[in-house]
Amino acid sequence: MCGIVGYFGSKNAADVIISGLEKLEYRGYDSAGIAVNEGNELEIRKFSGRLSVLADDVKENPMKGNLGIGHTRWATHGEPTIVNSHPHFNKDKSIAVVHNGIIENYLDLRKELEQDGVEFLSDTDTEVIPFLIDKYYEGDLLDAVYKAVGRLRGAYALGILHKDHADEMVAVRKDSPLIAGVGEGEFFVASDIPALLNYTRNVYYLDNGEVVHIKGDKIEILNDKKEVVDKKLNKVTWDIEAAEKGGYKFFMEKEIFEQPQGCKDTLERRLDKDGHIVLDDIKMTKEELENLENIYIIACGTAYNAGVLGKTAMQKFMGIPVYTDIASEFRYNDNFVNEHSLVILVSQSGETADTLAVLRDSKEKGARVLAVTNVVGSTIAREADDVFYTWAGTEIAVASTKAYTTQIVSLYMISLNFALKMGKITEEYYFEMIEKMKELPGKIQEVLDNKDEVYEVAKQIVNKEHAFFLGRGIDYSLAMEGSLKLKEVSYIHAEAFAAGELKHGTIALIEEGTPVISLATQQNLFEKMVSNMEEVRARGANVIAIAQRHNKEVEKVSSHTLYIPDSDDLLSPVIAVVPMQLLALMVSDMKGLDVDKPRNLAKSVTVE
Ligand code: G6P
Repeated sequence: MCGIVGYFGSKNAADVIISGLEKLEYRGYDSAGIAVNEGNELEIRKFSGRLSVLADDVKENPMKGNLGIGHTRWATHGEPTIVNSHPHFNKDKSIAVVHNGIIENYLDLRKELEQDGVEFLSDTDTEVIPFLIDKYYEGDLLDAVYKAVGRLRGAYALGILHKDHADEMVAVRKDSPLIAGVGEGEFFVASDIPALLNYTRNVYYLDNGEVVHIKGDKIEILNDKKEVVDKKLNKVTWDIEAAEKGGYKFFMEKEIFEQPQGCKDTLERRLDKDGHIVLDDIKMTKEELENLENIYIIACGTAYNAGVLGKTAMQKFMGIPVYTDIASEFRYNDNFVNEHSLVILVSQSGETADTLAVLRDSKEKGARVLAVTNVVGSTIAREADDVFYTWAGTEIAVASTKAYTTQIVSLYMISLNFALKMGKITEEYYFEMIEKMKELPGKIQEVLDNKDEVYEVAKQIVNKEHAFFLGRGIDYSLAMEGSLKLKEVSYIHAEAFAAGELKHGTIALIEEGTPVISLATQQNLFEKMVSNMEEVRARGANVIAIAQRHNKEVEKVSSHTLYIPDSDDLLSPVIAVVPMQLLALMVSDMKGLDVDKPRNLAKSVTVE
């Protein structure tokens, strides 16, 4: 996820672009850059780090010119260094490009261009684009862009300038957001509305395949056949704060709704032509995997809860024992990490102090360290031996949601890949699981579409002091995340219990009306779980069930049931967590609490 802004008008382009990018920092913040047409040349400035580094430079050394493009980056291909920052350009810097998205066939294009003699400077997928445009350029910028874009596969929102076209900008949209704005004698393009709101409220919402062509005093929207499209100019009526949240009331809500896309990106963009999982920077060979004596999955908070589910998949697929622990405990316990260990660290931010300490300690002990993280170039990503990125996009709300589901998907992908390499599963099973995982985004979407049902449950819980979450097996691991979400954002005391353990003490807590969210998504444990639900119901609990759609039996013991689409037992947590995330969000909102910044909590905990 990155943010792009383009401007052409009578104002100083750099000033407008930087103020626009400031509103898009939620989309990316690890490096930033800008290109301005200064007459006969493109002035390009790029910096790693926050946008303020670029802004300070431009303040000290103003850029002249009123046509420009800018970018704030959230790295996917290549570390957040200066060379990897956007804009990218061709050899003589006559063409500059900013890009949000992922070019899936960039390796093939890179090879082809290298054969033409092109030398690439960066590790990015984007850099092929200016060189492709250059290849097709014969004096008509728009024409060259169409030809180049015809060669791209993947997702992209692009802003493009050419030094010899001092009154022209081309922007393209496919599967990444892009809008165009129209002011008084000025034009804009941007990834999102907030970037424009200081200047104009008149916007075109672009559809996939559409191209914005700004030239002189004219803006045209063209379709993929280069025909002019008659588009409606819309008036934005929201305020800036609401616009940054894309129309959602809270970032947490926005991020919950981004989960279908996050899971799709994490999985499907990693599948090669034959449908095999490509593990990016994980280079473990079959021999190295076979030499492992043990695997540890270590993390904190929500990432730990995802790790526990990863353990289940890993043990099932690879057939070797996997141990999980909380980083702050693991680092001070006697552990058996050695040179035959694989230590998998899961961390959204890649900066959590306790997780980082385990990384360093494990490396000292000779273990191989693999990181699953959401932030490219984070400390944990840099120091680990192998890295796998969750492509959830920037997560802003303190309570983690889309990071969790993409972490589970990532751990399952790693497990499947390792297990196949080791010959522990058949190709048939491997592909069957991948096919089932491809259905997850659609199933999550179904749950999101039925969010009103969760609202009914939220009303029953909002005034309670305690709530319990019950489950068996995988559902118990999931119950831990459900209860964590509720306590984090609603401040209701919530606990997760293994349903079979209830009668050994916990059941004493059940009173008339105590809400017990009971997870019954596992086929093999379904009947046992129903008995446990009956036990608490008989003692007065208000049993709220979460079950797969075909398991209607559950209604006999529950006062309310939230159904999720049927799915493989192992994959059901990725779907079943969604109603629990919505529940926490809704209860917090009903109580008027600060949903995105709950008291006492921080997004990234960089102290012990
Ligand atoms: C904090 C956050 C949690 C997060 C945990 C681990 O406590 O509030 O939401 O799960 O840290 O963070 P990490 O960035 O390592 O995943």
